Amino acid sequence: MQPSADSLQIGNYIGALMQWRNLQDAYDAFFSVVDLHALTQPNDPAELREKTRRTAAQYIAAGIEPSRSTLYVQSHVRAHAELAWVLSTITGFGEAGRMTQFKDKSQRYGADNTNVGLFTYPVLMAADILLYQADIVPVGDDQKQHVELTRDLAERFNARYGTAFTVPTPVIQKETARIYDLQNPTAKMSKSAESDAGVLWLLDDPAKSAKKIMRAVTDSDGSVRFDRENKPGVSNLLVIYAALTGTQIPAIEDEYAGRGYGDFKKGLAEVVVEEFGPVRQRALDLLADPAELDRVLAANAARADEVADRTLADVYDKIGL
Ligand code: ADP
Ligand code: NA
Repeated sequence: MQPSADSLQIGNYIGALMQWRNLQDAYDAFFSVVDLHALTQPNDPAELREKTRRTAAQYIAAGIEPSRSTLYVQSHVRAHAELAWVLSTITGFGEAGRMTQFKDKSQRYGADNTNVGLFTYPVLMAADILLYQADIVPVGDDQKQHVELTRDLAERFNARYGTAFTVPTPVIQKETARIYDLQNPTAKMSKSAESDAGVLWLLDDPAKSAKKIMRAVTDSDGSVRFDRENKPGVSNLLVIYAALTGTQIPAIEDEYAGRGYGDFKKGLAEVVVEEFGPVRQRALDLLADPAELDRVLAANAARADEVADRTLADVYDKIGL
């Protein structure tokens, strides 16, 4: 994830961190805070450094264990920028231009605010993946095209210079893991949303999150029922409830049958407070000792470096550097 805000939002938690922490047993997992990618947006230097630290603390607080997984900051491992350069030389201009995320963002920002880094963003992401010989990449649907590009680049390099890369497979998380904005339940909840009235922040005071839930947009139908099309607000709240409690949606519908939205929202607010109270406290504890957090991140970066350098040395050898 990019360190693009002081706090993560619960969509990041449900859609990414909860899935990632479950992968830690079965896989030798690498997780990073992608501060180089964050440079594609304007940043205040001191704030960027602080957001990077805060994002890492929230990964750990959410259950990514730096003793079981490798959790590091992208810029601490030099090989990312180096491999990205090599990969950019085998990426077609048209091929990169077809990435829908680039097209969306460059349209939104306008030509004057679109930098070349935004254009080569997916190439750096390919380097992030290929350096570690990743077998699988857990991503949301919106990142599938970037992983396809990564596969194409790996296959192209391997065919041209000899096999240096594992060709990764994207593991796409289910649609049900997608969380929407509480005030605008057809738009994805995002840490870069224009208004934060519908965003639940991981580091917010739980009482504040409870209030936002009580004010969430619903509908006039009055029944707690999953219907994405006609009841996007209530459906979104049901998905959050189900994800955090591990309950199936029909069971929640049954529990709240014949009761109003007020009851349901109160129930959800309790679930959210119970889940995020401790996560928030762990993150604040970690942030209270930045030297120790930096030490953990440095040790993990050293571990990542070892793997990444091996891949980069092989690549340099194969292309004649
Ligand atoms: P944001 O929009 O909050 O800046 P990113 O685009 O940086 O989020 O995504 C970081 C990770 O969180 C990705 O794995 C993405 O799939 C996941 N994610 C982000 N928003 C949501 C959401 N609303 N619902 C589910 N997963 C999400
Ligand atoms: Na973002």
